Amino acid sequence: MATTFILNGKSQTVDVSPDMPLLWVLRDTLNMTGTKFGCGMALCGACTVHINGEMTRSCITPISSVAGKKVTTIEGLSADGSHPVQLAKLCPRSPCWPRSPIRPTPTLTTS
Ligand code: FES
Repeated sequence: MATTFILNGKSQTVDVSPDMPLLWVLRDTLNMTGTKFGCGMALCGACTVHINGEMTRSCITPISSVAGKKVTTIEGLSADGSHPVQLAKLCPRSPCWPRSPIRPTPTLTTS
């Protein structure tokens, strides 16, 4: 079943099972590996993305639930990788590591 959503500002259509977690659609179908797998149970935050601006655990989010919505991954924070959160990912001692570096983004963008 095809699902269309906005991924990092661009319309994207994928033809996968509606129950497939968004995390695996991003990583395996779209080859966007910035979103990480950790626990697979919505506990660790490694898979966090923004859906319509809200932090969401993509490991437990079926792709069918994002139809028509805006999904932002770490790759979408800036095109050239200059967003502070993208740069923080490069440092293994970042306070975000090993959790998803996208988690602190709402604080950075709304305050
Ligand atoms: S992989 Fe740990 S919260 Fe999703």
